[in-house]
Amino acid sequence: MAKTLIVGSDHAGVELKKELADVARELGYEINDVGTHSTESTDYPDYAHQVASAVSRGEGLGLLVCGTGLGMSMSANRHPGVRAAVCGDVHSAAMARRHNDANVLCIGSRIVGTGLAGEILKVFLSSSFEGGRHERRVHKIDPPDES
Ligand code: RB5
Repeated sequence: MAKTLIVGSDHAGVELKKELADVARELGYEINDVGTHSTESTDYPDYAHQVASAVSRGEGLGLLVCGTGLGMSMSANRHPGVRAAVCGDVHSAAMARRHNDANVLCIGSRIVGTGLAGEILKVFLSSSFEGGRHERRVHKIDPPDES
């Protein structure tokens, strides 16, 4: 079965998102691009929610690009089962997968250059969750019921 990467961006991230989608295609990923498709001003949560919903349904890994990656991660992390990580370096990208079982990568187009962003994505996609003690910790990410 083809591996799927669900990608989304706002206007600030649209150009970098297209470049990163090409990187993922070269690695054999099928791309589901939920938009935006132009540089016309948009609201990042609209795309973060679409990508996070698809990831929450188990349709694949996600990639979200906005100016900083921050708004995208805040929005995506509201969805059950979604662990979105903002990464600006390759070590964080590897550890986000290996220790945190991240399933959405968020990148800031105004923070990270195209070449580094491509390397971050490659490392994110090629790293795997290590399980073990990290499994227990990941299960503790959702807060206990406070009602
Ligand atoms: C858009 O100007 C900018 O606020 C957005 O791309 C993102 O950085 C928000 O977190």
